[in-house]
Amino acid sequence: MANLRARVGALVAILAFFPFFTFAQNNTTVAASTFFLSETETQFSINVANDSDDVFIYSTSPAYSWVGFGFGAKMENSLMFIMYPSKDGDNVTISPRIGSKKAEPTFTSAVDLEVLPGTTVNDNGMFVLRAVCRKCRTWPGGFLDVKSTAQPMIYAFGHGYPLYSDSKSANLKRHIRYGHYSMDMVAATGLGGVPANSPMLSGVQLKGKMTRDHDRANLAHAIIGCLALFVIWPLNVLFAGFFKNIRIHVGISVVIMAFLVVAYALGISTSAQFNRSQDYKTPHQVFAFIALAPIVLMSLLPIPSISKLHTLIPRLHTPMVSTSFLLLVLTGGLGLHLSSQARPVILGYTAVSLMVFIFITVLTSCIRRRGSAYARANNRKRVGEEDDNMVMLKKMDESRSSSKASFTQGSGTQSREFGADGQDRNQRGLYGGGTMPGPQYLLNMHPGVPVHKW
Ligand SMILES: *[C@@H]1O[C@H](CO)[C@@H](O)[C@H](O)[C@H]1NC(C)=O
Ligand SMILES: *[C@@H]1O[C@H](CO)[C@@H](O)[C@H](O)[C@H]1NC(C)=O
Ligand SMILES: *[C@@H]1O[C@H](CO)[C@@H](O)[C@H](O)[C@H]1NC(C)=O
Ligand SMILES: *[C@@H]1O[C@H](CO)[C@@H](O)[C@H](O)[C@H]1NC(C)=O
Ligand SMILES: *[C@@H]1O[C@H](CO)[C@@H](O)[C@H](O)[C@H]1NC(C)=O
Repeated sequence: MANLRARVGALVAILAFFPFFTFAQNNTTVAASTFFLSETETQFSINVANDSDDVFIYSTSPAYSWVGFGFGAKMENSLMFIMYPSKDGDNVTISPRIGSKKAEPTFTSAVDLEVLPGTTVNDNGMFVLRAVCRKCRTWPGGFLDVKSTAQPMIYAFGHGYPLYSDSKSANLKRHIRYGHYSMDMVAATGLGGVPANSPMLSGVQLKGKMTRDHDRANLAHAIIGCLALFVIWPLNVLFAGFFKNIRIHVGISVVIMAFLVVAYALGISTSAQFNRSQDYKTPHQVFAFIALAPIVLMSLLPIPSISKLHTLIPRLHTPMVSTSFLLLVLTGGLGLHLSSQARPVILGYTAVSLMVFIFITVLTSCIRRRGSAYARANNRKRVGEEDDNMVMLKKMDESRSSSKASFTQGSGTQSREFGADGQDRNQRGLYGGGTMPGPQYLLNMHPGVPVHKW
């Protein structure tokens, strides 16, 4: 019984203790203007000292990812204060940055920001920042109008991924939400001091609602790249290696190339957005450019006039395809790392890569062991992959020369169209006799070449 009473007593003591902590923030009479967002309990208060050039800042927000506030109507040339948890997660890193148009803001050492005692990440997972900014009233590209009753301001929240860093130039992910407001600097002017915790707007006009941001170009970059690599690519291996259908193979290859071109273009357009990627030095970008070499070789070598140059050239197609695939998969993984994706996304990507890799490997070894459908249909025994390359090239060459023939012969091929002679019958078997534009059309790319009708 005494034991229970002691426990209840301890509980009461703890409960009694809590209000002391939560209300420990004194309601001092420091002049301030306060931005407050009830959804996240985010507060950002400014005090403009009237006895010095100092600007005092008090801010609190949930300590996940980053939160930023900036002086100015838009990102460009705005002086921003970006806050994120420190490396150990028990303090706040505050990074003054200068914004640029549609790109990640850059750390600036032009302002002198001093973090004051009381700055912490508290038990509720909220960070509390108490700071004084010296030389903050002008910065490269802008200034703070302390006489303004409606100083334009911006704010933004980063993605909910864990960003823990002591570095003031830590790489940021693009904001997920942002908004605008104006702040009364006259009301914020008074005796210098850190503003108090205050969960209400004061001297602030919100301008519009918080905007949800979408990084559609980057998302499309990832999705188009993955579709090309994990859906269309294995289909192509299936059609090329197993069904030996040169027409469909060339067609699908062109589609893959189109997807890759779009993915590369979107990637390049996104690169300028972030400090870390604008010099094209990240592993993701380096691998993407290295991968171009086997991709170009893989696409050019099967062209008959090139493949005829040396007997070795046709054998290079398969190794080039494998090299391109591996490099592109690696590039994709490095891209997820570069964009700080969550672990499940990276694990999912790895799993899909492995599955597709196993699928292609099993398919290829099946083709090697059993011979392709085409080879079996033609009673050829144990056809190797290199031989398959030769077979495909021969087909491509035949189709090309026959398209040339039809072109030069013009309307004189009427009798061939009826398939009277044996050679034509043979070719009909090779190409499946469909009516879709043949490889000769895709390869020659001459708009003037008529599509040959079998
Ligand atoms: C809070 O304000 C009261 C007077 O309003 C003062 O006596 C007290 O020292 C202040 N506490 C802190 C922690 O500043
Ligand atoms: C956080 O860092 C500031 C400045 O270095 C310091 O004054 C404060 O005491 C630190 N807070 C904690 C909880 O370590
Ligand atoms: C990128 O960040 C580094 C490190 O903070 C900085 O020195 C450099 O000026 C930045 N570059 C650009 C173009 O923003
Ligand atoms: C600064 O503002 C306070 C009121 O917050 C006032 O009492 C004081 O006289 C002002 N000082 C100057 C130098 O204007
Ligand atoms: C602080 O005190 C002032 C007047 O003394 C009052 O108007 C204001 O509501 C108080 N703020 C908080 C957050 O308690």
